[in-house]
Amino acid sequence: MRGRELRGELDAFLAETEQDLVAFRRDLHMHPELAFAEYRTTQRITERLTAAGLVPSVLPRGTGVICDVGSGDGPTIALRADIDALGLQDEKDESYRSTVPGACHACGHDVHTTILLGTSLFLAQQAAAGLLPGRVRLIFQPAEELPGGALEVMAQGGISGVDRIFGLHCDPRLDVGQVGLKPGPITSACDRLVVKVSGPGGHTARPHLTADLVFALAKILTELPAALSRRIDPRSSLSLVWGRVEAGSAANAIPDDGIAEGTVRCLDENAWHVAPDLIKSLLESVAGAYGVEAEMDYTRGVPPVVNDELSVEMLAEAAERALGAGSVAPTQQSLGGEDFAWYLESIPGAFARLGTRSPDGQTYDIHQGTFDVDEGAIGMGVRLMAATALTALWESRPVTVTDPITTLA
Ligand code: NI
Repeated sequence: MRGRELRGELDAFLAETEQDLVAFRRDLHMHPELAFAEYRTTQRITERLTAAGLVPSVLPRGTGVICDVGSGDGPTIALRADIDALGLQDEKDESYRSTVPGACHACGHDVHTTILLGTSLFLAQQAAAGLLPGRVRLIFQPAEELPGGALEVMAQGGISGVDRIFGLHCDPRLDVGQVGLKPGPITSACDRLVVKVSGPGGHTARPHLTADLVFALAKILTELPAALSRRIDPRSSLSLVWGRVEAGSAANAIPDDGIAEGTVRCLDENAWHVAPDLIKSLLESVAGAYGVEAEMDYTRGVPPVVNDELSVEMLAEAAERALGAGSVAPTQQSLGGEDFAWYLESIPGAFARLGTRSPDGQTYDIHQGTFDVDEGAIGMGVRLMAATALTALWESRPVTVTDPITTLA
């Protein structure tokens, strides 16, 4: 199929379905569900996929859906949307605002879900017409906001046999019709660190008979980040910042335990992998110098999303093909976390930012109670995801003289 034909087919499909997709999004928006509680959302998705002749499979917890379109021959490309809402109050004054107190689709996951549904329906039509050169796996992932959803999908074999995966996120700083792309890291890692120290306490008159734990804890608080900054490539922007510290209860008594808590943020995947072991050895050496025992509790958040270069090129080609020339804009790495990163630890793929701002309209931020999108972004997202899946399928096949890739416009 030529790119121009694909654009025409998407135009025709959206002329028929776009209004219905907007209504689907508004229904999800009015009924947001938090991580791993997306039962109604899951039901709405499966109803629509089944009605289109597809065979969706609900994940064992009862939230989240995986569904294949097309034949098992040829490559498999996965498209992922996250379906959960945020635990904050909807502050909009729209007819479709949240009806659930303390829950709101303030991160645009209702839009991602709707885009993937629309893409599924379009690809089902393509498959029925014999125009899908391989298989597309649709992943409606639960629980992106609480780390765990992507790992749950992977534990259920969600990406086994998948050659490449794509996802997107609403970007309220980009105009509708624009797609933000960046090869390499596009989000950041954020982990949590708890350090507990202990040693013999006693009178502040005789610190030499104790472990002088408050002094030792203060050294750990300053020396650990300092040593880390000299042991890790500064380009990784790895930073350990403390948020809580507690020890002792009286001015003249040295306590026998203390605690410090902080976060470790990092822009680089390699530095993220080595951080826990390095921090542990630095902690042991600083604590050992003062004779205190130190224990570390390190909780992994998510790694950075690191976009594969070839996959970004496929997204860029698809955007040009389906949204038009000039639709691709460069974007920056954000300090936020995104659990799409887990998929990219196993298989190549890329994550795009989809413009949702009305031209000359208000610029919102995600995770704000007033966050909303220009709903024209839904049709744009369907165009982008459908064209990306087809582009990746075409380009993942061995090129022969009769291959459609050789005839692309
Ligand atoms: Ni989000």
